[in-house]
Amino acid sequence: MNDSYTEAHVLSQPKVGLGLRPIHYPHLETRPNTSVYWFEAISENYMDTEGRPLHMLQLIREDYPVALHGVSLSIASTEGLRPEYVKQLKRLKDRIEPWIVSDHLCWTGLQASNLHDLLPFPYTDEALTLLLKHIDQVQNALGCHILLENVSTYLQPPGSSYAEWEFLTTLAKQSGCKLLLDVNNLYVNAINHRFDPVVFLQAIPTELIGQIHLAGYTDMGTYLFDTHSKPAYPEVWELFSKLIARAPDIPVLIEWDDDIPEFSVLEKEAQKATQIWNYHHGHTHTESVSASIFAHSL
Ligand SMILES: [Fe+2]
Repeated sequence: MNDSYTEAHVLSQPKVGLGLRPIHYPHLETRPNTSVYWFEAISENYMDTEGRPLHMLQLIREDYPVALHGVSLSIASTEGLRPEYVKQLKRLKDRIEPWIVSDHLCWTGLQASNLHDLLPFPYTDEALTLLLKHIDQVQNALGCHILLENVSTYLQPPGSSYAEWEFLTTLAKQSGCKLLLDVNNLYVNAINHRFDPVVFLQAIPTELIGQIHLAGYTDMGTYLFDTHSKPAYPEVWELFSKLIARAPDIPVLIEWDDDIPEFSVLEKEAQKATQIWNYHHGHTHTESVSASIFAHSL
């Protein structure tokens, strides 16, 4: 299997990337110099097209590592995987040769109807068995390991016999897949479901984490909503700082999906992640850099 994301080597710079979004195609088509290490593309936007989106993705791939990040695999569906979806994903993977293939730890609807939501399920042994079967099927079909992302949730289905972090750890250990740890989702869930995000963070062995997501939520007053429409909040940067201090080689991705700003704004978010990485692992060790990010008023 192609496991490029597990390569261990000493880094001289952090692997900070950005989500590839169509609004930035005109800018990226000019092949500008960027500070971006890699891009993450939403798989479904490129799976059944031969047009401009695929052309753009191939152009980006000529200059950068690319991750394919899906939203419709529905790996936790009790109806099983959709063979045609997996086939299309494999075709895209063969074309793009991504360094990471990922999706979400959730289900997204019934086969005939994709709800386009990342839906939760109870963390049980039954779910674990089902997921181990599906992960094995997907990894065999794609010929590579996949990463699965912890999702933001707004209710907790009854019947769980594992805490979320216990379930993620057990699943990754038993399946051979790695975790895409979305630190924003972790924080959103910690507030919505009232647990300590640091307990979650410290319970996951860093060797099981293949990628990090950073994004911004919206405070709805009684709960946090995972909107990806703002910069990451200081509390999320602090959790990220704790994580990257322990595991400098994990690729980091800035996600922004709504109210998407100019490319330069995203680059500045990526630079914040780089500053924090440098604070822990670089040669420019200054407390003021890190403190200014955590204190940033949003
Ligand atoms: Fe995410």
